[in-house]
Amino acid sequence: MNLRTLFFSYVAATTSVPCVISSQVCCCPAPCKMKLLASFLSLACLLFRSAAAAPAPAWQFVEKGLSGIVGLEAIVVSPTLVVMFDRAANDFLHTPDGKVAWGSLWNLETNEATPLKLITDSFCASGSILSNGTLVSVGGNIPNVQYVNQTGALDGRMGLRLFGPCLDPNGVGEGCTVFEDLDTLQLAETRWYTSTLRIFDGSLMVVGGTHESTPFYNTDPVNSFEFFPKKDGGVPRPSDFLVRSGQVNLFPRMFALPDGTVFMLANNQTIIYDVETNTETPLPDLPNGQRVSNPFDGTATLLPLSPPLYEAEILVCGGSTKSDTTPVEELSAQDPATDQCARITLTPAGIAKGWVVEHMPQGRMMPEMIHLPNGQIVIINGGLTGYAAAGSIGVTFGNSNAANPIGTPVLYTPSAAIGSRFSQEGLPTTDIARMYHSTVTLTPQGNLLLAGSNPNGNTTFIPPGQPGFSSELRVQTLDPPFMQMARPTLTNVPSKIAFNEKFTIDIDIPAGLSTSSIQVALMDLGFSTHAFHSSSRLVFMDFVLSSDKRSLTITSPPNNRVYPPGPAYIFVTVGDSTSVGAHVMVGSGANPPVPDQGVPL
Ligand SMILES: *[C@@H]1O[C@H](CO)[C@@H](O)[C@H](O)[C@H]1NC(C)=O
Ligand SMILES: *[C@@H]1O[C@H](CO)[C@@H](O)[C@H](O)[C@H]1NC(C)=O
Ligand SMILES: *[C@@H]1O[C@H](CO)[C@@H](O)[C@H](O)[C@H]1NC(C)=O
Ligand SMILES: *[C@@H]1O[C@H](CO)[C@@H](O)[C@H](O)[C@H]1NC(C)=O
Repeated sequence: MNLRTLFFSYVAATTSVPCVISSQVCCCPAPCKMKLLASFLSLACLLFRSAAAAPAPAWQFVEKGLSGIVGLEAIVVSPTLVVMFDRAANDFLHTPDGKVAWGSLWNLETNEATPLKLITDSFCASGSILSNGTLVSVGGNIPNVQYVNQTGALDGRMGLRLFGPCLDPNGVGEGCTVFEDLDTLQLAETRWYTSTLRIFDGSLMVVGGTHESTPFYNTDPVNSFEFFPKKDGGVPRPSDFLVRSGQVNLFPRMFALPDGTVFMLANNQTIIYDVETNTETPLPDLPNGQRVSNPFDGTATLLPLSPPLYEAEILVCGGSTKSDTTPVEELSAQDPATDQCARITLTPAGIAKGWVVEHMPQGRMMPEMIHLPNGQIVIINGGLTGYAAAGSIGVTFGNSNAANPIGTPVLYTPSAAIGSRFSQEGLPTTDIARMYHSTVTLTPQGNLLLAGSNPNGNTTFIPPGQPGFSSELRVQTLDPPFMQMARPTLTNVPSKIAFNEKFTIDIDIPAGLSTSSIQVALMDLGFSTHAFHSSSRLVFMDFVLSSDKRSLTITSPPNNRVYPPGPAYIFVTVGDSTSVGAHVMVGSGANPPVPDQGVPL
């Protein structure tokens, strides 16, 4: 059986009978027949549904089609498009020159993937969008020689791959291709498993990583920071924090704080880094042995920021409590992950109080946390046991270092009383495992897009019943209940907003939604890879609803430190229902580094 046949038999075996048409890749007879069957079934479902009483709006998983490449990295780049990257190997999409692709553009309207041509291998890169709206994919790996004839990929460890802004809704034309120039666009250091964050001046801070491929622990660490565009003449800044965090410090978790400093977390070590003075201020270690950066992947998020104080709180969940020097032979895919979450307020009083511990309903390895526009957080993906990476510990499950996928997400309500913040009530369960190399992101439509999962050395399919996890090409959304409700609609939203500015948008509020509860969120949807959602951010904005309830006069964030300048989506939640996000450029839209704008806090 060749790989293609195996793939489609796998699709046939794993596609459940949905009440939804999934747009399969329609390039050979088998899936076309499946699509017809799916259409027929969904028509039957629709007829059946209209005869029965309409069900109450509820959370649901919906299958959306196939991604063509493994969605190992994902970022929303426009109201309709998501860029995904994988490793240069044996994915299904091909570029027009006949080479195997490892990048794609996912269209949220048509649920189809089209190939993107890259020059260098983006495997386990990171990225973020600059103040001028251009996405930069950062770092990567040396391509696997087994596949170079079919991919043509070059070494991506110093990679800087530019994309956009891409204004065409279908991703065709100017700005909608990846630009690489190996002569002028390169990092100073080779970096695989590095993290990237947009900071207050709209440029990117690049942190840590490993120089060379490593199967598990960081044995060849890049213990430095650098920037794009370059600062300090391109000389990387050494970091004690990265030295101290040792061999469990891949993909450090980091956040731009409202005063312009950067919070960083690797292993169980945390600091605040002042970019302008190049100083690291250590904060308390994570308590109870919790460790969260790769390969002990837990996750972290900056909780929503609210006026007038914009006090920063960090929430850290999952990962492992194993010692960071445990020999790999002693680690098992069945070792329990930790259910601990630790939360800290980054004010002098909050730092003095230290980390406050809470517990998720279950332990999670490789979770990701996604902001909802109403301020709640979805904790999703990953497994109950094991570690990140693949095929590299004493006891694996097939080729996976982790096992026991968790199909049910958790909702976390930051403002609720401690002890009642986590809930799985009303949340659906999926049987699609999202393990190592999976992604999830909020979309401009207001639902979550899930892709990827691949704890294997290439794109491969594990027959049902065998240990391990197939390379996952099925794309899903997790739809909040409001996707089935009447939603507020926003019109006349300016395409660009300055800091500390009042601007007015029109809103149409359907009857039945309670206008006594309105929230206006400015969101960076972030970059998803390896259980971390870099640059993701929610800043609530003050507003006044007009007396006829048809317009909102909104006050933008005070300055470029509260919201690092760059693209954002404005979502308005009225009662239980959230609008579609409106795309805006926040700040001047100029190339980084941009000067301070607005008023100080
Ligand atoms: C790649 O192509 C060259 C030239 O055709 C061939 O000699 C080499 O064996 C190929 N490498 C692989 C890994 O298939
Ligand atoms: C953090 O980890 C280091 C080893 O990497 C350990 O020495 C230290 O005690 C840990 N901190 C806490 C609070 O457990
Ligand atoms: C994928 O990797 C496995 C080993 O991990 C190998 O046996 C298999 O041939 C590879 N598949 C392809 C299509 O290269
Ligand atoms: C955005 O800024 C970067 C860094 O200066 C630059 O390389 C890129 O070309 C800019 N994008 C656009 C669209 O001008």
